Amino acid sequence: MNRAVTEKKLRPDPSCATYQARRRRLARALQGGVAVIPTAPERLRNADTHYLYRWDSHFHYLTGFHEPEAVLVLVGGRTPRSVLFCRPRDAQSEIWDGHRVGPRAARTRYGVDEAHPIAQLEARMPGLLANCPALHTPIGLDEAWDKRVTGWLNTVRKQVRSGVTAPAALCEVRHALDEMRLIKDAGELKLMKQAAAISVLAHRRAMQFTQPGRYEFEVEAELLHEFRRHGSEAPAYPSIVAGGPNACVLHYVKNGALLKAGDLLLIDAGCEWQGYASDISRTFPVNGTFSGAQRALYEIVLAAQMAALRTIKPGAPFAAYHQAALEVLVRGLIDLKICRGTVAGVIESGDYRRFYMHRTGHWLGRDVHDVGEYTRDGRSRRLQAGMVLTVEPGLYVRPGTRVPKAFHHMGIRIEDDVVVTASGHTVLTAEAPKTIEAIEAWMDKA
Ligand code: GLY
Ligand code: MN
Ligand code: MN
Repeated sequence: MNRAVTEKKLRPDPSCATYQARRRRLARALQGGVAVIPTAPERLRNADTHYLYRWDSHFHYLTGFHEPEAVLVLVGGRTPRSVLFCRPRDAQSEIWDGHRVGPRAARTRYGVDEAHPIAQLEARMPGLLANCPALHTPIGLDEAWDKRVTGWLNTVRKQVRSGVTAPAALCEVRHALDEMRLIKDAGELKLMKQAAAISVLAHRRAMQFTQPGRYEFEVEAELLHEFRRHGSEAPAYPSIVAGGPNACVLHYVKNGALLKAGDLLLIDAGCEWQGYASDISRTFPVNGTFSGAQRALYEIVLAAQMAALRTIKPGAPFAAYHQAALEVLVRGLIDLKICRGTVAGVIESGDYRRFYMHRTGHWLGRDVHDVGEYTRDGRSRRLQAGMVLTVEPGLYVRPGTRVPKAFHHMGIRIEDDVVVTASGHTVLTAEAPKTIEAIEAWMDKA
């Protein structure tokens, strides 16, 4: 092999220090225990065809390693040790599936203390678990994994007469990792900014492409084109391109209908960029001009979103922005005579749930519905700088009691991605047209 190529391959990954720091942090939390974290398995779509491979978010957060069939073992204690098990180099497989890093290069490139072929995992695990107080691993994530873990524990237990102690506790490792992942560092925020920027371009493109007579899937293709042309690996979740009544189906992903003049189009789509998700929704008229009824309902959702955004700052409870949005939505429903009573009364009775059945947002990060608890000691968690969340109020009007016909089948959601900063917040997706004026002007330019 050419010497220059070999050396290049053995250079550490530029983010190696970040992953090492995360492993050190987790190792400290283990208090002498051992963490065993597998990446995601490859999954069959049908026959011998696999889904596009996506590694496990936790595993990748700690390693930066992207191949399937890999397991990270982190031995806590005074001198923590990281051991990576991965696929060995294999000339034959590499002809078909491409380059594998292999244990030797993995050690240098990913900064782990040891790396071994994955086939050695079974043989080495009992030794790694011997005399350690606790085993930390994802529990209940995958039945086959649970079984393997139990098998290792039983193997160590059988050795007790030779003076070995088995882990006394089996702990859920994801809890500590979820908390680490909830607060994004500067490097992560940079990636999330880029994910958001690509998705903004995709929404702008889709908006200008939309016109009566086109199909939802044609608009979806425009989104995908923009994602991929900027190097995004994949959408962060299946894109929702929902014209007219389809917007009232919250998880509509068929994207197969013809777009009609006079209808709205709801797009909920975001790309993944280097493992980080974005998640944007915009709703706009297929023909580029809001009708009176569309305008009335849209203004309510927009006002709700703005009210929600105003509450987002460090120290505010997570639940505050949902509450702020809800009050504006309910006020609007009452003003349009879709709901009756007072704002407090309609919230209390839950009558609004016919039109607004989801919460106003969620954590965003490596997973679109990212990890991290929403409550602490039974109370809504306080926001902190470095948290990233979505703000996504909506209204979905199915025909029903007292609902004026003009609003039937309208579904509207407006969703932005927001970083909590030391002084307030930053909206990462602000450049996707959102006000009625901005949307109509942007579509008019098409
Ligand atoms: N696109 C998923 C969500 O908005 O939660
Ligand atoms: Mn969302
Ligand atoms: Mn969304």
